[in-house]
Amino acid sequence: MNIRQARIDDLMGMQACNLQNLPENYSMAFYLYHLMTWPALSYVAVDEKGRVVGYALAKMEEEVADNDEPHGHLTSISVLRTYRRLGLAKKLMLQSQAAMAAIYQASYVALHVRKSNRPALSLYQDSLGFTVKDIEKRYYADGEDAYSMRLSLKK
Ligand code: ACO
Repeated sequence: MNIRQARIDDLMGMQACNLQNLPENYSMAFYLYHLMTWPALSYVAVDEKGRVVGYALAKMEEEVADNDEPHGHLTSISVLRTYRRLGLAKKLMLQSQAAMAAIYQASYVALHVRKSNRPALSLYQDSLGFTVKDIEKRYYADGEDAYSMRLSLKK
């Protein structure tokens, strides 16, 4: 399995991976915007035939409050079911986080996750060291609450 920066020709594979795994789905324009604006922040895992088996779609936060610092945002991550528990999601996240800090001087990375999403929560909290910053009530379209999570990128 190879992990590399996402390219425009990966977008169909990324979208397919998202559609298989998550109820939060996005237009192709939304994916394209991420890659065109922050090309170094999104990553894919590809198999030996070059097919996308996982992705991390990320950006820099565009609306930063006066008292806030520049920070990254993990928009979406998913790994195809048969490729899970191989460490791919962790590697995808670490690559993106490193680029946020090195290129954009991001002081932290933020994300939202469903309260019920145990695998993702374990990835963020236990494996990567994120902490819960807040609970956003009814954040998702079906009414589920989200944990708003953060990880400092300061050395
Ligand atoms: N149960 C418990 N802990 C888990 C699980 C699980 N099913 N999956 C991952 N973890 C934790 C473990 O600590 C694991 O380390 P370990 O294997 O050494 O114990 C660590 O996370 C790293 O796991 P990876 O192998 O890197 O994770 P994986 O590649 O399997 O992908 C992911 C995890 C992305 C959550 C995957 O299960 C998935 O695609 N789920 C569906 C989509 C999804 O929920 N995406 C997140 C939505 S929130 C957002 O996108 C901002």
